[in-house]
Amino acid sequence: MITKNLKGYLIYCIIMIIGLLQFSCDNKKTQRGYEYFPDMVNSIPYDTYSENPNTVDGKTAQHAVVGTIPRHMVPYTYPNTSEGLKMAGKELENPFQVNRSNIKRGEVEYNVFCANCHGLTGKGDGNLYTSGKYKSEPVSFMTPEMLKKPDGEYFHTITVGSAVMGSFGSLIRPQDRWKIVLYIKNKLPKAGKSK
Ligand code: HEC
Repeated sequence: MITKNLKGYLIYCIIMIIGLLQFSCDNKKTQRGYEYFPDMVNSIPYDTYSENPNTVDGKTAQHAVVGTIPRHMVPYTYPNTSEGLKMAGKELENPFQVNRSNIKRGEVEYNVFCANCHGLTGKGDGNLYTSGKYKSEPVSFMTPEMLKKPDGEYFHTITVGSAVMGSFGSLIRPQDRWKIVLYIKNKLPKAGKSK
């Protein structure tokens, strides 16, 4: 008796589930279909791209106020000129110590952002240049002149770029830029000699 009831119950459930599935989706991909719990579909506040009667230009998304800087960002004020380069070299000091973990971090970032042009050994023989895809000759960091360049000048070049070299200010965090300099000056010369 019980098993017979159970069987009937199961068949009833299956029919109900098939019935529900029939109504749960819609063939028309451009329509949302039935909105179940619509409170999260239609939000009360203005949406980012919706019109807005309260703003001057009628848009909800507004530009940040002129002069706004993101949290934790320190604006870089040295201009992209040779005077700016010299000034950064004189005034900026590398806040990071020469130690294994800082150099390791610098190496990772160097290999991602610089090695393709300046080479894994820093001699200016990166793949982009030697393959002929990039025409301007990258500087070798292994010359006495480059090795004694102040850290601040390197930091400046990474931040704002150089003559033909693009800037990495928006791609590499300041702390990692300093660590790249530590790597170039302290570990790369040894790597350059052994290869
Ligand atoms: C797309 C190729 C390319 C990449 C990537 C690149 N550079 Fe350069 N870099 C150059 C070229 C070309 C020059 C030489 C011409 C110039 O000064 O613009 C140069 C010059 C330099 C100079 C010398 C500038 C000066 O006059 O004092 C430094 C320092 C430097 N790069 C550091 C870096 C560092 C650090 C990275 C990685 C964060 C990097 N570069 C990534 C192409 C590149």
